Amino acid sequence: MNVILLGPPGAGKGTQAKKLSAEFGTPQISTGDILRDAARRGTELGKLAAPLMQSGQLVPDDLVVKIVEECLRQPDASRGFVLDGFPRTIPQAEALDAALAKAGRKIDAVVSLDVPESTLIQRISGRRSCAKDGSVYHLNENPPRQAGICDKCSSPLIQREDDQEDKVRERLAVYARQTAPLKDFYAKRGLLRSIEGVGSPEGVYLDVKKALGKP
Ligand code: AP5
Repeated sequence: MNVILLGPPGAGKGTQAKKLSAEFGTPQISTGDILRDAARRGTELGKLAAPLMQSGQLVPDDLVVKIVEECLRQPDASRGFVLDGFPRTIPQAEALDAALAKAGRKIDAVVSLDVPESTLIQRISGRRSCAKDGSVYHLNENPPRQAGICDKCSSPLIQREDDQEDKVRERLAVYARQTAPLKDFYAKRGLLRSIEGVGSPEGVYLDVKKALGKP
């Protein structure tokens, strides 16, 4: 199962990718998580990516393509993968196709999560993430057992810098301009499965599985 989850900020890509990964044992490859980790650790990549991420802009294609190519070469991705947040531009999608073709592989399906903008903003403004292990919560929809504390590792929960309202609006605009055209790109290849990403995370997951032909 080589799957791409497509959707605007807050659509639930990370939430659904984790569920797929847990049930099917295929790794979640989240370029956002990898870049945030690099920024936290202060690596060269992190120093380059951090200001762009904080302002809601995309990191240059060549850098993210290299990250994903490296992830796809890992043994755990040999049986399949769930891409979360990649590709985000047509050149990224073309580079992905080329890298997979070289290895005799291809994308099986692209699931697009469609969510109204008001819901996206409500989800993102309530999101809190663990500063240490990246676990994601929502103040109302999926609160931690103890306010402000990660259930799994007891570290403090933080609000992502790019989750402030002005940055969210910029990210939505960047999505519309640079990423939404991918829907057409994959529809033309017969790979796009669009579903409504609203309702409970569990309900959306059933629809994601249905779109992938998984009982
Ligand atoms: P990235 O981390 O990929 O952010 P994003 O695409 O903006 O997506 P989000 O993480 O905001 O949302 P999500 O769809 O994963 O939703 P989630 O499941 O968390 O990228 C961040 C930045 O990194 C980019 O802006 C860019 O700078 C850079 N970057 C990353 N990839 C790049 C690339 N390929 N090229 C260039 N630059 C790149 O859910 C959101 C909230 O809603 C959570 O609180 C969750 O609990 C809640 N929730 C989820 N589902 C539901 C539901 N069904 N009902 C109620 N609540 C729900």
